Amino acid sequence: MSAVPIGIVGGTGISHLKEFQVERRRVVPTPYGEPSAPVLEGRLGGQLACLIARHGSGHTIPPHRVNYRANLWALKHIGVRQVVAVCSVGGIDPDLAPGELAVPDQVIDYTWGRPSTIHESLENPVVHVEFAEPFSQSVRSLMLRSAERSGVRIIDGGVYGATQGPRLETSAEIERMRRDGCDMVGMTGMPEAVIARELELEYATCALVINRAAGCGGGGIHDQIEAHVAACMDKVRAVFDSLQIPVD
Ligand code: HPA
Repeated sequence: MSAVPIGIVGGTGISHLKEFQVERRRVVPTPYGEPSAPVLEGRLGGQLACLIARHGSGHTIPPHRVNYRANLWALKHIGVRQVVAVCSVGGIDPDLAPGELAVPDQVIDYTWGRPSTIHESLENPVVHVEFAEPFSQSVRSLMLRSAERSGVRIIDGGVYGATQGPRLETSAEIERMRRDGCDMVGMTGMPEAVIARELELEYATCALVINRAAGCGGGGIHDQIEAHVAACMDKVRAVFDSLQIPVD
């Protein structure tokens, strides 16, 4: 077992992982204010893991109000080095049908007005982090291998387009995103990924496709979400329950 806990940023479903035994709830003060929720420390299939609910314990914090800096800083402070983020997305690429999981390898950021750097003070002056490859290949591989072990289909790669929300997109916006090269759309991927990079955390996203993006068919988006979210969560649980973090 790795002595270093894996960090998981996710929604409420994730804190009910079959194998996750919560041993401790830690309230972590940070230089950026309060994280979304206490960090849950425990064991996941024998591995040490630290979970934080991105939208708060009662799922009340909208994507543009999440304190991404505090959440990741708290995980780092506890000793996490690798983070898996669980994000729900709408599929733009036809292969990303509702019910699929994907591990994106690129990001296009359409968000605005969110605190998106830790490098903005005298104590923490500007640093231009490299971000050509926004996700950690080692954490991506961890997820892909774990999906293989657990027999869950997972799509390797794809461009995650991060939108501001909380409203869903117009069909024209999705059409523009498709022309830009986006395969999926979600509201929480940024600035989470770049703050993780600035904090020198190894970070990757497990995207749950819960609907087809606006104008891409499939009927009403909320009906689709209702129909597919449970199946996606079952798959994510299976993947997490067979995570094997290499001992370094
Ligand atoms: N758009 C933006 N964010 C989302 C979507 C969507 O269609 N589905 C899940 N998160």
